[in-house]
Amino acid sequence: MKEQGRIWMNGKLVPFGSAKVHVLTHALHYSTAVFEGIRCYKTTKGSAIFRLPEHVNRLFKSAKIYSMKIPFSRAEISEGIIKTVRASGLKECYIRPIAYYGYGTMGLTPTPNKVAVAIACWEWNAGESSAGKVRGARCKVSSWLRIDSRSQPMQAKAASNYANAALARVEALKDGYDEAIMLNYHGKVSEGSAENIFTVIKGEIATPPLNAGILDGITRDSVIKIARSEGMTVVEREIDRDELYLADEVFMTGTAAEVKSVTEVDNVPVGDGRPGEVTRKLQDLFYEASRGRDERFSDWLVPI
Ligand SMILES: Cc1ncc(COP(=O)(O)O)c(C=O)c1O
Repeated sequence: MKEQGRIWMNGKLVPFGSAKVHVLTHALHYSTAVFEGIRCYKTTKGSAIFRLPEHVNRLFKSAKIYSMKIPFSRAEISEGIIKTVRASGLKECYIRPIAYYGYGTMGLTPTPNKVAVAIACWEWNAGESSAGKVRGARCKVSSWLRIDSRSQPMQAKAASNYANAALARVEALKDGYDEAIMLNYHGKVSEGSAENIFTVIKGEIATPPLNAGILDGITRDSVIKIARSEGMTVVEREIDRDELYLADEVFMTGTAAEVKSVTEVDNVPVGDGRPGEVTRKLQDLFYEASRGRDERFSDWLVPI
């Protein structure tokens, strides 16, 4: 990672390399952290943060589910995000706010520790999300089941959820795929390791509902709104594994991935094995909206 700019730590911007935490930080041992992943894009009207209030709201929702009290207001966190991006000098970047139980008392109970908040940003590098944009992603249905809210609240973007996701991602990569698709405890399709998933069958776009154990993705919501605004039909319904093999198109959405095409599932080509027409169209429309080129969605962009 290229260290550039400053990191906001508990209200102060500190040099990138000095943004340190103690090794006995509670979250490091017990995953007691909630976080966000946000993008700042170079748009027609300068740099702007995509759906900032929605991301900040989700951070607070994640904290609430875990009874974690973030010692800053939504406005202060939003301001901190904007200041961090400005301090970086970057025109486009990935932004990572995180709230976590800090250093003080060691033991399972997090609450004796203070809740700390940090916000960092860094240069966006397509890296691991490039598969699916340039070419279609090859996915594997994971042998790891997506945890569900009987075990952990899936509406929280909590660090603890990502142990399960990382197992699936690493398994997929080791087996020569680009990404994992995870089934839930009911055997239904839930999501990718860090993306929501959609199928396109006979022109109908479908995506699993929130109770399939998925994160309420902000890109998912954006793509649903964009698709509906174009008169496309989008339904939220349970999706069976078989449908992945028979769908005309499969695509994934996420802050990192944006809209990425899935062209193979378990070595079975999706459709004709090439990125499909609907996926391409949504990729383009999402690009236009996030870069300020679609006036219909200009209120999704907060200038910095
Ligand atoms: C598990 C999981 N599902 C879905 C998503 C997509 O969510 P969003 O579009 O808000 O980035 C992410 C990424 O944050 C994720 O980690």
